[in-house]
Amino acid sequence: MWHSPWSAELGLDFPLIQAPMAGANDAALASAVSRAGALGSIPCATLSPERVAQEVAAFRRDGGRALNLNFFCHRPPAPDASRERGWRDALMAYYREAGLADAEAAPGLQRRPFDADQCRLVEALRPAVVSFHFGLPDSALLDRVKASGAKILASATTVAEGRWLEARGVDIVIAQGWEAGGHRGHFLADDVIGSVSTHPATFALVPQLVDAVALPVIAAGGIADRRGTEAARALGASGVQLGTAYLLTPQSTIGELHRQALRQARDDSTTVTNLFSGRPARGIVNRLMRELGPLSDHPAPFPNAGQALAPLKQHFEALGSSDFSSLWAGQAVTLCQEIDAETLTRQWISAQ
Ligand SMILES: Cc1cc2nc3c(=O)[nH]c(=O)nc-3n(C[C@H](O)[C@H](O)[C@H](O)COP(=O)(O)O)c2cc1C
Repeated sequence: MWHSPWSAELGLDFPLIQAPMAGANDAALASAVSRAGALGSIPCATLSPERVAQEVAAFRRDGGRALNLNFFCHRPPAPDASRERGWRDALMAYYREAGLADAEAAPGLQRRPFDADQCRLVEALRPAVVSFHFGLPDSALLDRVKASGAKILASATTVAEGRWLEARGVDIVIAQGWEAGGHRGHFLADDVIGSVSTHPATFALVPQLVDAVALPVIAAGGIADRRGTEAARALGASGVQLGTAYLLTPQSTIGELHRQALRQARDDSTTVTNLFSGRPARGIVNRLMRELGPLSDHPAPFPNAGQALAPLKQHFEALGSSDFSSLWAGQAVTLCQEIDAETLTRQWISAQ
């Protein structure tokens, strides 16, 4: 059995973290994973403070152990009307095809960076772990999170990012490899789109980060069962974080079209695109990615690109099509299993 000091300190049976997945999981998945002895995570970037409090209450009612609350730390872009206009123009042919007026807007997913309101929430709810994606909040907020007693985790996609996080007092670094599903957590490169193709894969990143920092390193990206977990351990990781592997469990909150795409996906079905949000993220290739991307200068900056796409997503999904939907998934997509998340996690743990 694999034991790590950090997971023992948190009262976990195994150093496995269920990846926080904004738009794809809530307390139900976190509780199921937690009951199996691993770390459950609730993604908060798209939730109101009231909703976060409800999810945490649900998690605690369901007998969860330690809990990870996850937040984004992007800098909201300055308003840029011409960039927004340019993105809408790039989508105009699709609006026409769908018979939608240009101005017509459906509310898209709102993604907010960690702020004073969310910090107060952390201080009130006192999760055992707080994890950050896209860097860290400013030092005053970070100090308050630390003072709340939470262990701080954050994603690094390069050795330089891992060192940057260590210098700012993070407790554990998550090494997010190129294979990973969802948004890439990179934050140091000025050119987040141009630099993305240089990102190392999990197998290369983990040992280099382990050598570079004195902190525990958690491997994330392309790990979906016992084999990946054992490989991560052999590379020197102190734990694993799995996201895609949970997407087909009944506890994941993704819709039926996303589930269908996951069931049909192959090992080469995913790629990294910035079309859906303005930042690079890995998902299953669909029509929008084939025709406008997968990477492009057109989208409005993160997180605004999704607003102009929202009416198209809504329209085409109502017709049974995921041509304009973000189908986030990592490269190990075919290893997803359609079984209960608690059972799945117990299987991984007992197989070690
Ligand atoms: C659907 C989906 C949504 C995600 N959302 C978040 C998020 O809200 N916060 C975060 O830190 N990471 C997010 N991630 C990235 C995961 O933390 C993790 O890096 C990734 O899932 C690991 O790779 P895997 O998907 O191959 O297991 C997301 C991943 C997926 C698949």
